[in-house]
Amino acid sequence: MAILYDKNENIFHLKTNATSYVMQIIRDKYLSHLYWGRKVENYNNSRAIIWKDRGFAPNPDYTDRTFSLDTLPQEYPQTGNGDFRICAYSVRDENGSRISNLEYKSHKIIKGKNPLKGLPASFASEDEVQTLIIYMQDSVINLVVELEYNVFEKSNVITRNVRFTNKSSSPLTLTKMLSMSVDIREKEFDVITLYGAHNNERNIDRRSLKSGIIQIESTRGTSSPQQSPFMALARKNTDEDQGDVYAINFVYSGNFIACAQADAFENVRLQMGMNPLNGEWYLKPDETFQTPEVVMVYTYKGLNHMSHIFHDFYRNHLMRGKYVHKIRPILINNWEATFFDFNEQKLLNLAKKASDVGIEMFVLDDGWFGHRDSDDSSLGDWFVDKRKLPHGLSWLSDEIHKLGMKFGLWFEPEMISEDSELYKQHPDYVLHTEGRPYTIGRGQLVLDLSRKDVCDYVIKSVRDILNSAKIDYVKWDMNRHLTDVGSSTYLPCQQGEITHRYVLGLYYIMQTLTDEFPDILFESCSSGGGRFDAGMLYYMPQTWCSDNTDAVCRMKIQYATSFMFPPITMGAHVSVVPNQQTGRVTPLSTRGYVAMSGNFGYELDLNTLTDEEIEQVKEQIYLYKEIRETIQNGIFYRIKSPFEENIAQWNFVSNDGKNVVAFHFEILSQPAAPVKLLKLKGLDANAQYKNLSDGKIYGGDELMYSGISVPLKKQDFRSQCYRFYKI
Ligand code: GLA
Repeated sequence: MAILYDKNENIFHLKTNATSYVMQIIRDKYLSHLYWGRKVENYNNSRAIIWKDRGFAPNPDYTDRTFSLDTLPQEYPQTGNGDFRICAYSVRDENGSRISNLEYKSHKIIKGKNPLKGLPASFASEDEVQTLIIYMQDSVINLVVELEYNVFEKSNVITRNVRFTNKSSSPLTLTKMLSMSVDIREKEFDVITLYGAHNNERNIDRRSLKSGIIQIESTRGTSSPQQSPFMALARKNTDEDQGDVYAINFVYSGNFIACAQADAFENVRLQMGMNPLNGEWYLKPDETFQTPEVVMVYTYKGLNHMSHIFHDFYRNHLMRGKYVHKIRPILINNWEATFFDFNEQKLLNLAKKASDVGIEMFVLDDGWFGHRDSDDSSLGDWFVDKRKLPHGLSWLSDEIHKLGMKFGLWFEPEMISEDSELYKQHPDYVLHTEGRPYTIGRGQLVLDLSRKDVCDYVIKSVRDILNSAKIDYVKWDMNRHLTDVGSSTYLPCQQGEITHRYVLGLYYIMQTLTDEFPDILFESCSSGGGRFDAGMLYYMPQTWCSDNTDAVCRMKIQYATSFMFPPITMGAHVSVVPNQQTGRVTPLSTRGYVAMSGNFGYELDLNTLTDEEIEQVKEQIYLYKEIRETIQNGIFYRIKSPFEENIAQWNFVSNDGKNVVAFHFEILSQPAAPVKLLKLKGLDANAQYKNLSDGKIYGGDELMYSGISVPLKKQDFRSQCYRFYKI
């Protein structure tokens, strides 16, 4: 049993194979948090809450000054009646009051887990997950709140979400509705978050939590490259291989907040959910609001193990469709090769060369529709530009297929250009607030996906193209953030809903199209990895990791992305040097090894490479085909962080434990260079492994504990790949 309820003590004990999460109903009404961490077989409350009369801590019961919500470790804290810490939800009633008070009413424990209406969410069979729903109520305003906990026993994951139902006869406005909150009665943590920008996604920020709040957020309408919807509390001594980590990740693609608040008594409140800024919901009588889901992972085995739990969970319980566990094709994308300037001949020349070197899919990127010669026109006009492609898409796709390759196509379906037929016909389709000027981004406007008719237009226009030719892959792009958010089709009191309604509209579109086209491999993109989140991965099992293809930058971007997401989800391409984003010149081998550490492809004009380089490309493709089962479906271990050193190292072990692929990267060449060691991870200490390049045999223990000394070389940006086979 994953969920135990002790009637006498009113204690819920949520157990996975390795963790425990314990709550108690105190005084028959307050849902309190007792423990989250390493598994304890029987929880007998040795760490009892010590009741104490604290100054300025108000008391719901005046006869007992030791009891205050301000000091109670809570599960879903309210506001206005004595807990002055940050709340998990807030609601404005008809009279304008924002005070609320939830009390426990009942609970139920069920096998399995229901889908979340309109939202991406984890799933599992009835044997793999158990669900606890705790019904809480504010009886003054008749608001019922269901706190849902899903316990994935084998995966060592707990997920949480919340539902609000208005049981009163007048409307309520939800002004904050986080998906989870937990009060940890300890404070000695670092907070890890992932920050960045376009071309510089997901850098690791690790800072110590002292007092007050560390909060990250997105207010941009998407999860954003600026902050990822991820936060972890780690002990000071936690590293890749050991130590406590409490990590949360949001299954949502819109605005979010994540925060850690240290209170005056050395407790931490950890929270995650939709951003309350522009994130209200007008809840009519009998209506229900469903929050997105948060995935919660605890381990005492360090950051690598945290990632293994996330990777395994997302591969088996979040991503959908036939490609999740399938080997992904090596692709060539024409974007950095041609940008908007192409014609049939140019594309076919590139495709022909790509097929010669062994590439398996050709992706036609931006610029094939409307009259799009630059990025300020034609979005919304999803019909072929006959000037560039006189024979049409179907013909082009057939030609590509004749070369033995699959054919993929770029879309940016959520957008509209002012210079477009769509805008001429439907200026009202633009996401905007009546009476305010538009704010343009990358020369374009955003479609109002809070409107069903606009979503249906998007579905139809993409569907028509997908039906018009043999299309095997879609790159789904999104290249600006939301501004002037509003929609005249909704009431004034609902304008705070539009940001979330946009995301719901997007999910509706993606659900419809991915259901209708199960054979198409979808890759999401937002100017690179600007919307690389678990919500998108539910629909599309891979993401273009960054527009930055510089090998050195990519080491960091891919390293940090792997905190939550497995390498198979990370689109990674070899591009030209000097690199178009950084101007840096790195060797083709290093560009190859970095890209091969993810979902491999090329994004350059192969026809401009020398014969020698083409030979090298062929070798890379041959190698990737040999190792990709291990890279894509194996287990990924981070060894040395490019955020901390002049080197980066990682290795992959295939699921059956037989194949090992390791990469060593040395960024700048150093004078008096020290000899670097590569200590592999995840091997069987008692097994023997053969080095596939020289046939030498080593024990797994030696490769892991003693390590390999990497040869010295006077060269910047050099790299080394090692392959071993277990014998
Ligand atoms: C975004 C994507 C790129 C490319 C361009 C096309 O920036 O991230 O890969 O598709 O759009 O406009």
